[in-house]
Formats: sequence, C-alpha cells, structure tokens
Amino acid sequence: MARKRKILKLFIGVIIGLISASLFKQNTETRKNVNSCVSDYEVYDSAEIVENRVNDTNGFLLVGVMTAEKYVNTRAKAVYETWGKNVPGKTLFFSSEVSRSNEIPLIPLPDIDDNYPPQRKSFAMLKYMYDNYLDKYEWFLRADDDLYVRNDRMEELLKSVDSNKAWFIGQAGRGKPHEIRSLALKKHENYCMGGPGIILSRETLKRIVPNIEECLKNLYSNHEDVELGRCVRKFAGISCTWAYEMQVIFYHNQSSDAFSGNLKQKYIHSAITMHPIKEPQNMYRLHNYVKGQTIQEKQQESLTLHRDISSSMAYFGIESFQLQTAELVEDLPLYPEPPGSKHFLGDPEFLGVPASLTKFNYKTTQDVLDWELISKSLYSFKDFNPKKRIGSSIKEGLTDIVREIMEITNSNSKQRGRMIEFKELLYVYWRLDPLHGADLILDMSLLYKKYTGNKMTVPVRRHVYVQQAFMGTFIREVTNNDEVPETGKNSQNTTVENMFIGDVLANIGKMPLPKIFNYKSDTENNRYINFILPLSDRFETFTRFMNIYENVCIIDEETTRLLIVLYRNENNIEEFNKNLELIHTTQRKYPSSDIAYKIITETFSRGKALQYGVDLNKNDDLLFFIDVDIVFTHKSLQRIRFNTVKRKQVYFPIVYSLYSPKFLNQSSSDNLKQSADYNLSNREGFWRQFGFGITSIYKCDFINLGGFNMSIAGWGVEDVSFFEKAIKSNYNIIRSVDPHLIHIYHPIECDNNLEQAQKNMCIGTKANILGSLYDIQNFYLKYKHLFR
Ligand SMILES: *[C@@H]1O[C@H](CO)[C@@H](O)[C@H](O)[C@H]1NC(C)=O
Ligand SMILES: *[C@@H]1O[C@H](CO)[C@@H](O)[C@H](O)[C@H]1NC(C)=O
Ligand SMILES: *[C@@H]1O[C@H](CO)[C@@H](O)[C@H](O)[C@H]1NC(C)=O
Ligand SMILES: *[C@@H]1O[C@H](CO)[C@@H](O)[C@H](O)[C@H]1NC(C)=O
Ligand SMILES: *[C@@H]1O[C@H](CO)[C@@H](O)[C@H](O)[C@H]1NC(C)=O
Ligand SMILES: *[C@@H]1O[C@H](CO)[C@@H](O)[C@H](O)[C@H]1NC(C)=O
Repeated sequence: MARKRKILKLFIGVIIGLISASLFKQNTETRKNVNSCVSDYEVYDSAEIVENRVNDTNGFLLVGVMTAEKYVNTRAKAVYETWGKNVPGKTLFFSSEVSRSNEIPLIPLPDIDDNYPPQRKSFAMLKYMYDNYLDKYEWFLRADDDLYVRNDRMEELLKSVDSNKAWFIGQAGRGKPHEIRSLALKKHENYCMGGPGIILSRETLKRIVPNIEECLKNLYSNHEDVELGRCVRKFAGISCTWAYEMQVIFYHNQSSDAFSGNLKQKYIHSAITMHPIKEPQNMYRLHNYVKGQTIQEKQQESLTLHRDISSSMAYFGIESFQLQTAELVEDLPLYPEPPGSKHFLGDPEFLGVPASLTKFNYKTTQDVLDWELISKSLYSFKDFNPKKRIGSSIKEGLTDIVREIMEITNSNSKQRGRMIEFKELLYVYWRLDPLHGADLILDMSLLYKKYTGNKMTVPVRRHVYVQQAFMGTFIREVTNNDEVPETGKNSQNTTVENMFIGDVLANIGKMPLPKIFNYKSDTENNRYINFILPLSDRFETFTRFMNIYENVCIIDEETTRLLIVLYRNENNIEEFNKNLELIHTTQRKYPSSDIAYKIITETFSRGKALQYGVDLNKNDDLLFFIDVDIVFTHKSLQRIRFNTVKRKQVYFPIVYSLYSPKFLNQSSSDNLKQSADYNLSNREGFWRQFGFGITSIYKCDFINLGGFNMSIAGWGVEDVSFFEKAIKSNYNIIRSVDPHLIHIYHPIECDNNLEQAQKNMCIGTKANILGSLYDIQNFYLKYKHLFR
C-alpha cells in the first residue's frame, strides 16, 4: 500500500553532438607483408605480425579465430578489422594448411583441411595456443569467424573470475531432444555451444591439451563443440557454466534480421558476444554501432566528471570566470589548460551544471521555455496546427529514452528481486533548452514484478525526469576540396579538431577561419552559374530582368552565363521582335558576356522550355532555372553556388513574392525597380512556400533525377512533381528562404482549358498573391458596397 507517491527521478545525460566517426580512427600502422610460404610450426611470420600490431603487455586474453580458406578475406578480415584488433591481449587466425592471406595474420595449420565439422582444426588450434602461449595468457577464447565480441565487457567479465581455477565459460547447450542420444550426453552433462564463443582458463587448457589425441580418437558425434565439451569434462573435470544469464551475454540468434536490421535492441545492448554475423558488412555495421554506444557512455562519464569538477570548484571557492583569464590558470590545478588550448577541458559553467529542471534561469518573460505536450498526438504551440500526428523522429527518440530508462531501472533488479516492465507512456512533456539540452517529463505506466519473498505483480505509475544534455561542439576539418563532410568516408586524410563552441566563439575574430567554413576551393566559388530563362512575350518585364542581369552579372563580372529560351508567339510577333532586339543589343554592348538564346516556335510550356535549355548545357554545368519576374543580387548567386553540390545536393530556394502594387503604397514605376532591395514585411509580400520553380542543380543530377515530366503542359505542376522526385531520391535537398530572390507581382491568367487540379492551383495562387489579408480586408470594408 503506497502511502505516498514516490517520484522516481532519473537523470540521464544522453549526448547529442556532432561526433565524427574518425575520432576513433584506428591506428594505421604499416603492416609487414605476410610471408605466404608458411609450412610448419617453426615459421610463423604472421604470428609475429600480430605481436607487433597488438600490444599484449598484460597477456590477458588470447583469441583464436577459426576460419576457412574461403572466408579468409571476407569474414576473418572483418573480424580482424573490427573487434579483433582491440582485444585485451592478442588475436590469432587459424585455417587449413592451404589457406593464405596478405590481409590478415593467418596461421595455416599443417595437416588440417577445411572439412566440416572442424573438430581437428579446433583441437589443433588449442594445441597451438597451448604450445606457444600457455604461460603468456590467462584466458583463451575459441571463436568462429562470424562472432562479434565486445572487448570492454569481456575484459570486465573475465577480471571478475579467478583464472587460476579451471573454467569452461560459454552458453551451455544440451542438444535438441532428438539429438541427445546421438550426442552421447548423460542427463547432467552439457557442453559450451561453439557459436557464441567458448572461453577456457589457463588451467583448463593445461589439463586438456596433453590429452587431445585421446579425445580425437573417441569422437561420439560430428559436433565439434560437443566433443570439446566432452574432452573438457573428461580431463578437466568441469562442465560449461550453467548460469541462466549466459544465454544473454553469450548471445546467439539465428534469425535472418538479428544483426542486419535495427540494432537498437535489448539483446544487442546486453550481450558480450554475438553470433552469427555471416555478412562482413554487418560485422562492420555492428562494430560502428557498438563504438557509437561507447562514445555515448564516455560522454556520459565526461558529463559526470564535469559536474564533479564544477561542484569541487564551488567547494574551493574558485570562480569560473577566473578561467577566462589565462594568467590565473596556473593557479588552478583543476584546469591545467587555458580556454582555447587544445586540451582545455571545457567550460564548467555549461557542462558542469547539475542535472535539474532549473538549469536555465529566466530573466524576462520571453525567456520562459514552454513545454510541448505529447500524448496520443503532439500538441505544440510552435505549429499552426494545434494538434498533429507524432512524427517518426519523436517516436524513435521516445523509444530510445524509454529503453534506456528501463535498462537503468532494471540494472540492479537481481539484488532487489524485482523486475519492472514498461507498459505505456501516458503522456510526455518536452522542451528544448537551447543552452543545455532537452528536458522531458514522462508519465509512465509500469508493471512491478517481485519474484522473491512475497511474490506479487502490481501496476504502478511513475514520473520520470530525463535530461539529454548537450556536450561541446566537435569540429571536423575536411581537407578534400570537393567533398562535403561525410562521416566515415575520407578518414584517411581527415584531421580532427576537438574544440568547444566557446573557444570557437571566443577566438573567431583572431584566428584564420578553419577550412570547414571554406571547404570549396576558389574554382568552386567562381563556378559558372548557367541561367536558363524561359521567355514568351513580357517585353517590359524582360527589360527589367536584363537591366538587373547587366548590373549584377555583367558589370560586376560575376561568372554567369545566360541562356534565354525565347518563344515566338505568332499572335504577338511584335513583342518577340522587341525581346530579340534587346538580346542583340546587350550582346553587342558586351561581346564577351556569354548571353545566348534559342528560338522555339511551339506553344509555351515552362517544363519544355527549361528542358531545351538543359539540353544546351554540358553535363558538369551548374544550372539555375529562373523566371523573368525574379529579381536577384550577388548574395543569391553566392547561395546558389554554396547550396548546390554536384552528385549530392539540389537547391530549391523559397523566393519572396511581392503583392500587387495596387495594395502597396507604390506607384507602378516603383514596381519596376531595378534592385532586390526590399524590406520584406508581411504587408508587402510573402514567402512563396508552394513554389518550386526556381531551382539550382547540376545538369547530371537533373538527368539522374529523370528531368521534368514532359507530359505536363501549361501552367505549373511540373516543378512540384520534380521536387517530389528529388525528395524521394538520395539527393540532399536544401529548401530555404532567400531574401534576395524576389518575385515581382504580375497578374496571373488562368486558362479555362487547364486540368482541374492545375486550374485550382492557378486560381489559388492568383488569389494568394494579390495582397495581405490585412489590406484586402481594409479594401473590402472600404468598398463593401461594390461587393454583393
Ligand atoms: C606497449 O605498452 C607498453 C606499456 O604500456 C609501452 O611501453 C610500449 O611502448 C607499447 N608497445 C607498443 C609497440 O606500442
Ligand atoms: C532474434 O532476432 C529477432 C530479429 O531481430 C528478434 O525479433 C528476436 O526476438 C530475437 N530472438 C531472441 C531469442 O532474442
Ligand atoms: C593528406 O593531406 C596531406 C596534405 O594535404 C597530403 O600531403 C597527403 O598526401 C594526404 N594523404 C592522403 C592519404 O591523401
Ligand atoms: C499605405 O499608406 C497608408 C497611408 O499613408 C497607410 O495607412 C498604409 O498602412 C500604407 N500601406 C502599406 C501597405 O504600407
Ligand atoms: C525599407 O525601409 C527603409 C527604412 O525603414 C526605407 O527607407 C526604405 O524606403 C524601405 N524600402 C522599401 C522598398 O520600402
Ligand atoms: C507525367 O504526368 C502525367 C500527367 O500528369 C502522369 O499521368 C504521368 O504519370 C507522369 N509521369 C511520370 C513519369 O511521373
């Protein structure tokens, strides 16, 4: 009977931060070439190589990985390049006599073939370990080439066991019921299953290896692990560890998506060894995942230490502002390195704040951080929509948090004789403190199960307070000019700078900009932008456009080209002639200006016009689809160059659209102003969020994405369908406002013959771009009598 509702407080610092994978870049020591003519026990060059690569000063664990000729350069190599390198000791690979490898340090066992079951291989491997390393290592692990081992946890486990005794550690197996007879096991006998790995202490190895010949003579089954178990039982007098837990920590899951699907699983989080990982790419993937978890654990540790430092500083009366002055640093043993230096430990004022909901101090009413409420839906004050579906990112985030809470809650469940099971989240409050991280309050429905003493199962409800703290900012410098930072790819030549954002801000004026702010080379910054302008009639507007082009691009020597796709409209031949004349005049005036045109005589279609323009460009050209109504500045051109990346990224700027001059206090001549110098107020215009026509993209990417849908004629839509294609592709989409790309109002004519969807869009746009709601309302009030 709970008299008082206890509030369970858990503060979890999960770390959000940009961590480059290459922080954990492996040593790339040069590898000696393996002598491929290894024939007997005496010449084990490859073993020497391992010795050089792995510093086995502590002689703790010797891992023997059994592989076969056909897996040497796939599975075994994957083991070697992942966990095999970091064992607390040494890893050796064993295979048949004929196996060779230049990739991994391999020991071909004489007189051994790759036949299955590998009983002789296994025993020969143990003999090799015994002959060469018995005195040098405390523990011996017999592993397969499809095993993954978490070295840190393995070390922790083995250090808690006395290696002077005989031990046979692994997941105990008894065989399937129908097999028990053929395995020749007695009722109480077991063996360690080979898949998830088998560990022998030095004492065990010492007792069995001298008797291997006898074990091999008395094989009862064709299961290698069963026979090893029999041998160990007979000569070491022990059986495999029976503990129920071993199923969890020596984990085996035959399911095809066990290690290839989502890795955020309880069984992966609690395992020490995992089996089977048949595909090498899954081995690397799992390894990265485990490293990510390790980073997270280390960051949590770092956060806790920062909190200790901070409270110690308070205890000793050291003010954190003293840190800011470098002279005083010598007097502060807690902070041997001053801010700005490479080994500065980080700002205790931010990182050391203890976990609490009052980390952030309000000073004014604007500072108050509002909470959002998540229950069955997301209720957010940030959105126009007062209630909406919970997006997948929030769902996944909450699942992660709940899993972590449950792991922590149940971590000591054994001592307490109880398990707590998660039922559901009743509601969640969520807010973001921009200085420190995210705060959550979860109302959880749980099931409390006591399994010792008075056994009982009780539903309970608890509040949990969670903080996900920000860490410092990590900055990675990429030297390769053409590449946008991409984790893990070019770790070969990546230098890692690890700075806290405070240092960056403090020094930003003094130091030369790190390369990351300038990762495009000069040629990239001057890359030609190829304007493609579809044009039909509209001479007056075209004049304005050419004026701006002249001022911004020609006179100021921007690296641009202009291609006009000019439609010859027989009903308005005069406008066509004027347009053509203007092009010729400009060409004559600036002979080197790279202005070209193509005359088209069919009916106007923007999609087709742009396609004609695209066809005239080269594969590597950076294209910019523009309309004659748009005015632009240098700044827009910079953004185009910056935001469009070949083979990676497409830029869809959101232009600012001016309302009809009739609703603005401008004369119509103002409307033809020759600059994009507008004030952007909600009375003057709006962001054209629904317009996707202004696009910048490399031609090869445009082609890769399949170009425009040519069966769409007339007004609009082709840009929307192209945008949708781009979203579904692997390209990165940059969709952002550009305050220097301004669409000047011009009235829209909606053709009655358009398809209904297009027509609706057209009429919608026509109404939307007329004026602000405020002005239209005033207009209506003023001229009410004219409306019916
Ligand atoms: C191995 O570790 C010892 C002690 O930590 C160190 O002195 C030695 O230089 C290391 N050897 C190599 C090859 O890294
Ligand atoms: C094996 O893996 C599958 C797929 O991830 C999972 O659904 C299943 O629960 C796992 N089995 C065990 C016994 O952990
Ligand atoms: C890495 O960059 C340095 C300097 O830019 C260059 O000298 C070196 O060859 C590069 N190394 C690789 C592996 O690309
Ligand atoms: C236009 O001018 C009138 C009178 O000066 C003013 O009341 C109104 O707010 C202005 N409209 C806009 C859109 O600036
Ligand atoms: C923008 O605002 C400035 C200062 O308020 C004013 O001088 C300028 O005329 C405005 N420009 C436009 C286009 O309204
Ligand atoms: C192109 O547009 C037409 C008409 O809207 C549509 O029926 C067709 O499916 C589209 N083709 C592609 C490849 O999207």
